[in-house]
Amino acid sequence: MQAFLFHHRQFSFLLSLLLQLLQSHCNDLNQSPCPLGQRCSVQEGVVPAVIVFGDSVVDTGNNNNLETIFKVNYPPYGKDFYGGQPTGRFSNGKVPPDLIVEELGIKQVLPPYLGPSLPIEDLRTGVNFASGGGGYDPLTSELASVISLSGQIELFKEYLEKVKLMAGEKVVNTILSEGLFVVATGSNDVTNTYFNNPLRRYHFDFDSYTRLMVDSASSFFQDLYNLGVRRIGVFSLPPIGCLPSQRTLIGGIQRECVEKYNELAELFNTKLSMEVISLSQKFPSAKIVYVDAYYLPLDIIQNPTKYGFDVSNVGCCGTGTIEVAFLCKYTCTNVSEYVFWDSFHFTEDAYRILVREFLNKNLKNLIM
Ligand SMILES: *[C@@H]1O[C@H](CO)[C@@H](O)[C@H](O)[C@H]1NC(C)=O
Repeated sequence: MQAFLFHHRQFSFLLSLLLQLLQSHCNDLNQSPCPLGQRCSVQEGVVPAVIVFGDSVVDTGNNNNLETIFKVNYPPYGKDFYGGQPTGRFSNGKVPPDLIVEELGIKQVLPPYLGPSLPIEDLRTGVNFASGGGGYDPLTSELASVISLSGQIELFKEYLEKVKLMAGEKVVNTILSEGLFVVATGSNDVTNTYFNNPLRRYHFDFDSYTRLMVDSASSFFQDLYNLGVRRIGVFSLPPIGCLPSQRTLIGGIQRECVEKYNELAELFNTKLSMEVISLSQKFPSAKIVYVDAYYLPLDIIQNPTKYGFDVSNVGCCGTGTIEVAFLCKYTCTNVSEYVFWDSFHFTEDAYRILVREFLNKNLKNLIM
């Protein structure tokens, strides 16, 4: 008994030492990575504004006033967003842009540019131009009747003019040179446009279609650069074949991950990361960083319990196998058990793991 107590005390001493070490490790921004999914102290005040472009993974309500089926400003969407407000976010709660500004200590949510008009204090810390249903391929946004990337950039220019009028050129220059710009799109190109539309599938193979996507992505980043943007985080495609909807539609009776879709995503991601490297060399004054949104989500989906989830092959809404947007009528009893909110989008809890990892791993590369 004595010996056990001694050992026990020694053990807990070692454990607390280890915890302290881990913590100080965490606090030092230069010593990443910090433990997966943990909040490590991200230096506050290093990013004056966050601006986001992309699709439904990052839309915070721009689609609400568009004539499109790609909008979700009704329950049960937003069930956990400040007591249950359906705001057009494609999840139960916050989505990545909100979590990024929250984690950076900037503000609680990233408002949609097309939402209610914003005071200058809110404009100068960043807004969101993302539009659910869009993609890198211009045809994707056209088929969905949503805002294309070129449309998003037009709105961004309008925003810059507005900020210039309200706060002056200096504020605009700070946003451009020190703001964090995030681009997250491309899934709809694969699921909606390439595999579902003869216009693309019969004229392009995997190689040429991913080329089309990357070329469009590249010219978008260059447009941003030419406007003065200097810090761009580019999210890769997720493992599209493991989205519950795609498992149901193409994964067979066992609802396996669709290898073909994951292959296309990996091929695109490889090309995208090479393009990002080549643009970084072309524009040495800019930080353009490729952000993995493939392997971490894949690990969460394959090992949900490791991250505190129980279910990763169906979403929380409806049967979880196919419902998204207006098909989503009722929900599971405990959303905390789920990686996916609907058959296409993550829950807030799962998004938070991704966002923390993104900031822990990439923020210093973006700001230094
Ligand atoms: C909901 O699920 C989470 C995660 O599995 C669990 O920690 C929590 O206790 C559950 N809540 C209820 C009310 O069952």
